[in-house]
Amino acid sequence: MSENVIFCYSGTGNCLDMAKNIARYLGDTDIIMMRSAPVKTDVRDAKRVGFIFPCHGGGAPVDVLDYAKTIQVSPDSYTFGVSQSASYPGTGLAELDKIIPLDYWRTVTHQCSCIWLFPHTMMVPPMNAEQAQARSEKLAQLIGAEVCAKTLTAKKPPKNPLNAAENAAWPVIVKKKAAGFAVSDACVGCGQCVRLCPRGNIRLENGRAVIGTNCIQCLGCLQYCPTSAISLGSVTDKREHYHNVHVSAADLMETLIHID
Ligand SMILES: Cc1cc2nc3c(=O)[nH]c(=O)nc-3n(C[C@H](O)[C@H](O)[C@H](O)COP(=O)(O)O)c2cc1C
Ligand code: SF4
Ligand code: SF4
Repeated sequence: MSENVIFCYSGTGNCLDMAKNIARYLGDTDIIMMRSAPVKTDVRDAKRVGFIFPCHGGGAPVDVLDYAKTIQVSPDSYTFGVSQSASYPGTGLAELDKIIPLDYWRTVTHQCSCIWLFPHTMMVPPMNAEQAQARSEKLAQLIGAEVCAKTLTAKKPPKNPLNAAENAAWPVIVKKKAAGFAVSDACVGCGQCVRLCPRGNIRLENGRAVIGTNCIQCLGCLQYCPTSAISLGSVTDKREHYHNVHVSAADLMETLIHID
């Protein structure tokens, strides 16, 4: 078992990039992905256990909280959480804190992956992708140093009632939205989206991707498609696609990444 473990959920790479940068600071870290059921859940030997995930619809992606319930952490381990969002942090860390009490937490803003709602540059404070990435890398150093020093956060994570209401309605919104996926003639049947989907929601039929409604809205399929063949509603074709510059679709498909 590595000295440090970070459980990470990431749809378009921002959170995996943050997890890797923090892990590089800490050294000897296993990053265990939570896009699907984590390959390791008993981490009672780890000295530091972290969670890094995005805000989706005012809270954590539902799978993050479900998987967190299966994870065993020693009461002696130092625990930390980082939530990334485009603008507001949501209730994800507060919900996680109920399952696994957090010694330390931080929220970080980055580019918006939800381009059916906003262009990717719509973040708070406003920044282009290069500026946001540079800021994220700087913050990863700061968080790495604080986690290394086992810093404690005095306050509980934020729990805004408006975000909680949005998050309660989110599963219905997601189901409706997922019915709007379309795949164009640009699809070359490469199968990347099929392999990438954490919900097994995409299949190939006659050499073209077909997307169902068992979707958690990670948006990886749409943002990483090499031919931009996937759209969600009328607006995503008009907007620049975005994924983190340092994270490939193959990186997201890893289940455990060790950083020395
Ligand atoms: C479906 C969906 C819903 C989102 N909801 C919110 C939200 O409620 N508030 C917010 O500030 N950002 C929201 N975002 C933006 C992401 O939290 C942000 O882009 C994050 O950096 C993405 O991390 P990732 O690249 O690791 O997936 C949402 C993104 C997606 C795809
Ligand atoms: S990733 Fe794009 S091109 Fe490849 S199968 Fe999926 S939709 Fe088609
Ligand atoms: S269908 Fe696309 S957006 Fe939905 S869970 Fe699968 S990869 Fe993510």
